[in-house]
Amino acid sequence: MDETVCRVGPLDRSATTYIAGHRGLVGSALWRLFEKEGFSRLAGRSSAELDLTDRAAVFDFFEELQPEVVILAAAKVGGILANSTYPVDFLSQNLQIQTNVLDAAVAQRVPRLLFLGSSCIYPKHAEQPIREDSLLTGPLEQTNDAYAIAKITGILTVQAVRRQYGLPWISAMPTNLYGPGDNFSPTGSHVLPALIQRYDQALRNKADHVTNWGTGTPRREFLHVDDMATACLHLLNYFDGPQQVNVGTGEDHTLSEIASLVATSVGYTGTTRWDTSKPDGTPQKLLDVSTIRASGWIPTWSLSEGISDTIEWYRANQSVIRR
Ligand SMILES: NC(=O)c1ccc[n+]([C@@H]2O[C@H](COP(=O)([O-])OP(=O)(O)OC[C@H]3O[C@@H](n4cnc5c(N)ncnc54)[C@H](OP(=O)(O)O)[C@@H]3O)[C@@H](O)[C@H]2O)c1
Repeated sequence: MDETVCRVGPLDRSATTYIAGHRGLVGSALWRLFEKEGFSRLAGRSSAELDLTDRAAVFDFFEELQPEVVILAAAKVGGILANSTYPVDFLSQNLQIQTNVLDAAVAQRVPRLLFLGSSCIYPKHAEQPIREDSLLTGPLEQTNDAYAIAKITGILTVQAVRRQYGLPWISAMPTNLYGPGDNFSPTGSHVLPALIQRYDQALRNKADHVTNWGTGTPRREFLHVDDMATACLHLLNYFDGPQQVNVGTGEDHTLSEIASLVATSVGYTGTTRWDTSKPDGTPQKLLDVSTIRASGWIPTWSLSEGISDTIEWYRANQSVIRR
């Protein structure tokens, strides 16, 4: 049997579908898409309503809801600074969230489940573009190794559930994501929201220059979160295999190009300086996306359109933005 052909077929739109983390960047995009696609029984709980580190509460919730589809988009997520400052929190909380949700889903024999990981699971020196089979072939980047180990545990749990219980659960590994709903906190944000915030502030303060860390030469890949949501639905509908699936655009850009796109979109006309005394990080991080592309999914947002969309959301939602 070709394992990548979905044995169970496209999702039933009347299935009870639990999106864990439905208020986050990815979860809110999934909620928008699933609503638009006519899924009539969507369930979500904020962390205040259901703390996923509370094992008993998670088991009770699953027993009551009886979900038929689960997407695990809840996690403790952060940039390099947060990951390197609080490695214990990133390891412990993510292991607890995942283990509780996946164990409760096993207990209810939830037929369809998608686990979301991250491209940081791959070895620091993985060959570029990074193929799925490079997982566990070398040492991890130290700044987020705790988070990566938690995510790798999630992938292995999904694979183990497939073997032990025969449930067609799957895992997806997104590249860097951005878009409406992003985290703009100076200590928790990723690079793109940090740049948007910095250039927007420079515009408002009439600053004559903006200084970014490093040389601007590292290459990074970015995917609009609405494309990520369509990829998740596509994989649930059409993919069935034990290996995690990379999700990205397959194209990368230098940080200098990205900063310049942000400056233009924000309307900032000052100069950009690069503080080369600060570290650059890995020179390139690009996913090999041939598996998902071969299965028939393609992203639709260009980076410049996506950045403009995010800036528009950022400016219109100042009161609800996470800082
Ligand atoms: N953002 C990226 O660039 C990126 C890239 C690759 C992979 N991913 C993956 O995508 C997934 C979602 O990331 P994201 O960017 O959407 O993160 P996010 O915006 O920070 O959202 C995470 C969500 O998780 C929920 N959560 C956290 N701790 C919880 C707890 N103890 N109990 C219940 N809910 C909890 C939060 O709920 P509340 O809002 O209710 O507190 C939040 O809505 C993660 O697995 C992440 O690794 C993200």
